[in-house]
Amino acid sequence: MSLIEVNNLSVQFDTPDGAVTAVNGISFALDKGQTLGIVGESGSGKSQAVLAMMGLLAINGRATGAARFDGRDLLTMPAQDLNKIRGNRVAMIFQDPMTSLNPYLTVERQMTEVLEFHKGLTRQQARLRCVQALDAVKIPEAAKRIGMYPHEFSGGMRQRVMIAMALLCEPDVLIADEPTTALDVTVQAQIIALLRDLQRDYGTAIIMITHDLGVVAGLCDEVMVLYGGRVMEQASAEAIFYRASHPYTVGLLGAVPRLEDGDRALVAIPGAPPNMARLPAGCPFSERCTLVEAHCSSTRPELLPIPGRPAVFRACHRTAETVESYARGLCV
Ligand SMILES: Nc1ncnc2c1ncn2[C@@H]1O[C@H](COP(=O)(O)OP(=O)(O)O)[C@@H](O)[C@H]1O
Ligand SMILES: [Mg+2]
Repeated sequence: MSLIEVNNLSVQFDTPDGAVTAVNGISFALDKGQTLGIVGESGSGKSQAVLAMMGLLAINGRATGAARFDGRDLLTMPAQDLNKIRGNRVAMIFQDPMTSLNPYLTVERQMTEVLEFHKGLTRQQARLRCVQALDAVKIPEAAKRIGMYPHEFSGGMRQRVMIAMALLCEPDVLIADEPTTALDVTVQAQIIALLRDLQRDYGTAIIMITHDLGVVAGLCDEVMVLYGGRVMEQASAEAIFYRASHPYTVGLLGAVPRLEDGDRALVAIPGAPPNMARLPAGCPFSERCTLVEAHCSSTRPELLPIPGRPAVFRACHRTAETVESYARGLCV
């Protein structure tokens, strides 16, 4: 049994225009110390997938399928059990630290509260642990800075505070929803390195959500590429980076700067991310796909393993060879 086992997870929202399926039948397993990357452009269903697991969907949303943590389904467990797991055994960090940090309370107050609530520590004990946690995420002069308010920290430092707070209870799983998107590339690289160190030291499993394949390169074991709420490709990070077999993955790779590129122009995928309320009957990516054929927009491709490469799953009517040779032509 894996630490996390998600099976056929879907998320639907009721809207005035009818039901919108934001996440459509995703599955994955995650073990201790492993990292899964969930990648896709804005609106592809990444956040809703993990919010569903945490019981944090908006009031008009509803999740189906199963999301087992340590053998128990998070989707059906009583709210009070989920509260004990959330923030304690499964912690989340967000793109904007201000969504999880209270601007009116000092960092000390917010951090110690977590340990008092989940671990029953006294304020004094909690404070000591919190300073250590801030040290661990490399915040200089932690003992002094812990008394400051969130707005007194820089963006990168605030992100570190949020990570320290998420890791306070030594969670088994850390869900990071675009944690570096608002940061410049240098700080972004520092935060990723930090997550990797923490994972090495504590064996935390990480779900890393990002729209930027470059971010997952050095961090993830497995990558799930989402588009229009569906999995386009799911494979080891190595397979995704060195032998992408879905046109959408190839498109995302075209937008990632690589060291060996020299002056290769970066190419964004033409067109806009889909309107989830009006997806085509066939492949959701067909409207923007360069390799599109007539039946792509009318018949939905199933997510299937590639013959001879059973660990690589893709949902595409074109053959993996066709897509790979197209990618070689683009030099992505
Ligand atoms: N409360 C809601 N009501 C209706 N639709 C929603 C709601 N929240 C999210 N959605 C839909 O879910 C889609 C996926 O959202 P999200 O998972 O947040 O995307 P992202 O991949 O950028 O994290 C959105 O494009 C939107 O169509
Ligand atoms: Mg999101």
